[in-house]
Amino acid sequence: MDSLTRTLPASWFCSEPLYQLERKGVFQKSWHLLGPVTRFQDRSKKVKYEIAQTTLIVENRSPESDGIGKDGIVVYAEDQSIEIKSHFTPSGLLFATLSTKAPDFDDYFTGLEDLINKVDFSKLPHRRSISYEGKFNWKTMIDGFQECLHCQYTHPTFTAQYPPTTYLVTNHVNFSRHLSDPSKTTTSDGLFLYFFPICTLNVYGGGMSSFRTCPSTKPGVARMEFDYYHAGTDEEFEKYYKFVRQVALEDFELCERAQMNLESGVYGEGILNPIKENGVAFYQGRVKEMVYRQHEEDQKERAEMERMEDKCSGQEVNSVEVPVK
Ligand SMILES: [Fe+2]
Repeated sequence: MDSLTRTLPASWFCSEPLYQLERKGVFQKSWHLLGPVTRFQDRSKKVKYEIAQTTLIVENRSPESDGIGKDGIVVYAEDQSIEIKSHFTPSGLLFATLSTKAPDFDDYFTGLEDLINKVDFSKLPHRRSISYEGKFNWKTMIDGFQECLHCQYTHPTFTAQYPPTTYLVTNHVNFSRHLSDPSKTTTSDGLFLYFFPICTLNVYGGGMSSFRTCPSTKPGVARMEFDYYHAGTDEEFEKYYKFVRQVALEDFELCERAQMNLESGVYGEGILNPIKENGVAFYQGRVKEMVYRQHEEDQKERAEMERMEDKCSGQEVNSVEVPVK
């Protein structure tokens, strides 16, 4: 049992100081998916993102006559004193950071472009975006996304098409790939990607959706943001939308109940199934590692400040002239 990975303790889902460590140690040092190029084709509207209390703005400054393309799309922080990084993959996905503390894109997501470059993300137009608040920690939602043990009883409509019996998660450098049926899955149906820490991209049911679970300053509250893409008629889109919304609502209810258990002490800590919950072990391991590193950095910084303060106060004492009788 000692060799099995344990979950993060419930306190990590309920603690405000821990969230502040996550904010500095995880969110500000990560890359976040903003969307495929088709999300930014309405030149009249700026697209705003608020991730871990940093607001990013995406603008398409190219002329309308240019059509769908990456040229002219710019990303910047609303607070212009904050410097960020952004990156467009050759296949048309836009990613950004919240600071310059994140590593280079290729170091953060090594191997991602080889996988997603097989998909052309400029084919599916943006159809709808929705956002609402949930009473759960951001990790409670990601826990659920990163495994499919709950799928059979929570998502009957989904599992009828994507069997959980063959569900497989492969973990890579800061991203995971989910395969509902490894023998059949193509990159155009049944492609589920998780980008550490809070973004996902899901190509299934004839369309594409992405969601972000944005943390608030309250550890038990997160904001869900969904973007939907589809190339069909309005009627086809609505049918797809109904199908994928059903799955999202089932997850939402599950997460609010799980958070209640985490906050009330019903659930403390457990052991993860090494095969069926390898995705949870992977992302929780990254959170733990980055939070510990941040804590260490903060402690070193504090110790250094104390040392400087001691030195300064020592100098003051030394500089005081002691009258000699
Ligand atoms: Fe689910």
